[in-house]
Amino acid sequence: MDNRDISHQSRSIMIVSNRDAFGQEVSNAFATDENSTVTTENDSFKSMNGRAGRLVFDFDVVIFEADPDDDGEVEAIRDLLSKRTGDTVFLALTHNDVSIVKVRELRKIGIDEVLPMSTDSEGIRSVIGEQIRARRGPEPSVHDGPLALGQVIPVTQSRGGAGSTTVAVNLASSLADGGKSIFQKASKRSVVLLDFDLQFGNSNVLLDLEDNGGFLQIIDSVKAVDDRMVASTLQRHPLGFDVLCAPAQVIPLQSVRPDLVENMLDILKKRYDYIIVDLPRAAVDWVEPVLKCAAQLVIVSDTSVPSVRQTRRLMELYREESVALSVTVVINRERKPFIKSEHIREAEKVLEAKFIHWLPDQPKVARKAVDLGRPIIEMKPRSDLGKALKLLASAMTAAEQHVQRKNN
Ligand SMILES: Nc1ncnc2c1ncn2[C@@H]1O[C@H](COP(=O)(O)OP(=O)(O)O)[C@@H](O)[C@H]1O
Ligand SMILES: [Mg+2]
Repeated sequence: MDNRDISHQSRSIMIVSNRDAFGQEVSNAFATDENSTVTTENDSFKSMNGRAGRLVFDFDVVIFEADPDDDGEVEAIRDLLSKRTGDTVFLALTHNDVSIVKVRELRKIGIDEVLPMSTDSEGIRSVIGEQIRARRGPEPSVHDGPLALGQVIPVTQSRGGAGSTTVAVNLASSLADGGKSIFQKASKRSVVLLDFDLQFGNSNVLLDLEDNGGFLQIIDSVKAVDDRMVASTLQRHPLGFDVLCAPAQVIPLQSVRPDLVENMLDILKKRYDYIIVDLPRAAVDWVEPVLKCAAQLVIVSDTSVPSVRQTRRLMELYREESVALSVTVVINRERKPFIKSEHIREAEKVLEAKFIHWLPDQPKVARKAVDLGRPIIEMKPRSDLGKALKLLASAMTAAEQHVQRKNN
């Protein structure tokens, strides 16, 4: 993570409120912070009229009281933010029982953060710190620049519970861990995991992370997203890769705009070697841009007839979006057989693909990994499942290099 200590950099803060008590309370939050200079404007945006812009855009941070039900004030803020220049952070404090819908409405007009009035001084200071850090741009990374491979690998499933999140999470951890061999030092690869399983996403649970609201921020974005915004939505996992968590609350599947997804992937492809995407179960239009730029699609399945049929349907559907899409079928919860039975050969025929990747059924290992929020490849690397997952990751990188060589 970033080691630059933002608390030692000076910043100017303006507090806008026509309530003395609010101004006083918020400025107290910075009383002991000698790097912050606080100015209080005893007014509301509504009554400031056109004057507000000239007054506030020179500040690093503007903190104000917002009542989402005061239409006149909301309109005045919308108007002000539409004329925004510079990098000022706008932080609204609202009454404590404001609904999520109202908070999202306020964020949609361009307010950077909306917090309940009960947030303590430390909470306010840390949110401001995060916002300012995000504005300074993404963390410098050894993988920045034109050398990033930019390989997009979406992972999906033939049925709920097939194991796609398990595969996505372990693939991300494994790739970030680098390929080690006796002759080679570990080569670090930059990896990001995007949990696009909007409504059922649980990769954060498998990684012991909490949603930071990043996905909602992207969904609510009115304009195109930029590097800084995307970087601010990602969280660093201790195993060395970044994660975009699915939203903590259930939101409609259609809330995501395809152009924002495309925009985001364009940014990430320049910065990461591997972009692993846990796809949603439903076929939605915003999955199209993911498939369009995918190097290979992973479908996690089993060899039962309904799963094989569904895998076939998915292959057909997704190849409509991207004709040349290379598909890797991973058979989960089954050990690789020494001799393929008639039923497996039949399934391979249906899918016109050989089953190369098999992950054994190890419920105890899988369960413990979920309970502890640790990837299997890190927690139980020597288990058969851990080894099989590692092998899958190595095969994926070998396949990538092959695709790359072919393209060069
Ligand atoms: N090879 C395996 N052996 C035993 N349990 C597994 C295996 N793969 C996945 N699981 C477990 O099955 C459940 C569903 O897996 P998950 O990856 O969340 O599925 P999906 O994302 O496809 O719905 C999880 O509890 C997971 O730990
Ligand atoms: Mg899943």
